[in-house]
Amino acid sequence: MTRVFSGIKPTGHLTLGNYLGAMRRWAAVDQHRADGLFCIVDLHALTVDHDPARVRRLSRQAATLLLASGLDPELCTLFVQSHVDEHTRLSYVLECVATDGEMRRMIQYKEKAAREQGRGGSVRLSLLTYPVLMAADILAYGTDEVPVGDDQAQHVELTRDLAVRFNQRYGQTFVVPRATHPGVAARVMNLQEPTSKMGKSDDAGPGIVYLLDEPDVVRKKVLRAVTDSGREVVYDREERPGVANLLEILAACEGGDPGELSGAYASYGALKKAVAEAVVEVLRPVRERHRELCSDPAYVEGVLRKGAERAREMARPRVDAAFRAIGLLPPV
Ligand code: AMP
Ligand code: TRP
Repeated sequence: MTRVFSGIKPTGHLTLGNYLGAMRRWAAVDQHRADGLFCIVDLHALTVDHDPARVRRLSRQAATLLLASGLDPELCTLFVQSHVDEHTRLSYVLECVATDGEMRRMIQYKEKAAREQGRGGSVRLSLLTYPVLMAADILAYGTDEVPVGDDQAQHVELTRDLAVRFNQRYGQTFVVPRATHPGVAARVMNLQEPTSKMGKSDDAGPGIVYLLDEPDVVRKKVLRAVTDSGREVVYDREERPGVANLLEILAACEGGDPGELSGAYASYGALKKAVAEAVVEVLRPVRERHRELCSDPAYVEGVLRKGAERAREMARPRVDAAFRAIGLLPPV
């Protein structure tokens, strides 16, 4: 059976981008057709300035929202990264295979490091090595496919390079995985700034739709989305990024093709109304199920406990094999 692994960082409240770009597919498709592992990658949340209590809270919330979005612990393995030591064990070994130059070429590192330095802050070393930990997350499980949004393509490419290099140098140990991206909404853009990604952010941005936003808040954000000069609703990512983003969100929510959908709307106003209602409807069941699950934290904890046990068993043999292959003496 195909093995699928993906992860989500508890660095902020989950967004419509996370949902349409990743989570929804995990629940609707991946967990049914594959052996799926879905991970709250909390160690990755420590690579930037963070508040410990908030990371804990967001980790719990992410687990609850993943279950609310339809992940079924009978079908897949849902767990927290820091509960399974194999990730950091393997990460160190892979650091001995990766190069400094390779890390510094990562687009996300360059952007985040520049932002941090612009604020006069310092860059954590873990921000530089983060893609190696991500490679360890993936490679520890013999993963075939990594369903992610577009922004993670470069990291999965690096993971492949490290797997191939390790296998060549030290003997066949890792499966070489590949990224899979959704057909539409692989990159949902910020509604106020349609040339940048809708990312989790500390401030409650008016251009970011959060999964737990009240329906009226969702409507307001969509109706206030920045559109482009011009009147006609046409799908043109380069020239009309604002409208294109709305059409892609609509297509992702309702099915269909963004280009074809554009013909059905006479004005930007009409398009925005349709998008607002489509998003509210897509999020409704998630919000409702989330509310139910919040009243049963013991259930969520139980899911995470069993998930971590299962994940540990799956990862340990391969990580042990990597330790042996690279020259570490087995414990006596
Ligand atoms: P992160 O929020 O960076 O932990 O991302 C978790 C998953 O959501 C990854 O697969 C990302 O590629 C995906 N994702 C995050 N933001 C977006 C977005 N704006 N559009 C599409 N996918 C996204
Ligand atoms: N780096 C990913 C992100 O920012 C999160 C992540 C960590 C991940 N480990 C992973 C995604 C393993 C897929 C597989 O979105």
